[in-house]
Amino acid sequence: MGLTRNGSPLLLMILSAMFLLPLHVSSTLAERSTFIVHMDKSFMPKAFTTHHHWYSSIIDSIKSVESTTSNGHHSTPSLVYTYDHAFHGFSAVLSKDELDSLKNSPGFVSSYSDRQATIDTTHTTDFLSLNPATGLWPASNYGKDVIVGVIDTGVWPESESFKDDGMTEIPSRWKGICEAGQEFNSSMCNLKLIGARSFNKGVVAANPNITFSMNSTRDTEGHGTQLSGGGR
Ligand SMILES: *[C@@H]1O[C@H](CO)[C@@H](O)[C@H](O)[C@H]1NC(C)=O
Ligand SMILES: *[C@@H]1O[C@H](CO)[C@@H](O)[C@H](O)[C@H]1NC(C)=O
Ligand SMILES: *[C@@H]1O[C@H](CO)[C@@H](O)[C@H](O)[C@H]1NC(C)=O
Repeated sequence: MGLTRNGSPLLLMILSAMFLLPLHVSSTLAERSTFIVHMDKSFMPKAFTTHHHWYSSIIDSIKSVESTTSNGHHSTPSLVYTYDHAFHGFSAVLSKDELDSLKNSPGFVSSYSDRQATIDTTHTTDFLSLNPATGLWPASNYGKDVIVGVIDTGVWPESESFKDDGMTEIPSRWKGICEAGQEFNSSMCNLKLIGARSFNKGVVAANPNITFSMNSTRDTEGHGTQLSGGGR
């Protein structure tokens, strides 16, 4: 996408999404799996100061319903992430019964199972219906003050593609962070790579004993670096 152009004012944010889930969860966990739940926040009772408190309370109430209606459950439902920007809701590890109780909670909108995503699309300009010669450049005023979010396998911050020579200041509206983790620290972001976050709790929820070859936003696969850094 030409993001590597020297002096280009285009700013880049990388999001690493490691929400890959094994298709078959081990039998000990078969009773619970991860669901992504959309909520209507206008139903949030005034007593709660944050969406997070509200969702925690809902999970707690499901827990008590569950413990009084069935036997033999040793674990409990739990929140994985809460969401408050692109949509309102949360992800949680739930049994079928717990999901059914949740569906009766005020504010419940919809739910679906967390799932394994595949890396595909090798013809990005076609996929996005872009002009193959100029892409989005003219329409975006050559990227001035644009913040681009990429959900992918991570980023290799030392790549030439992320050199920030000639880049202007990070837009003041930016509220993201550069998250430290394995072989990745917050100084690895710069004026071009302005943030990085890793989200892998869904994988851990489905696979509690997992060990990651890289537990951070660092990209050991290459796809995310290639895509965000200027390849197509
Ligand atoms: C990954 O790193 C985070 C801290 O950055 C830590 O809390 C978590 O336990 C680690 N997970 C695994 C599976 O190693
Ligand atoms: C981050 O990593 C770089 C490169 O390894 C190192 O030079 C720098 O001191 C580290 N910064 C922090 C805050 O740990
Ligand atoms: C995870 O590891 C613990 C301790 O080694 C073991 O008891 C448990 O059965 C393992 N769980 C799964 C799902 O493999």
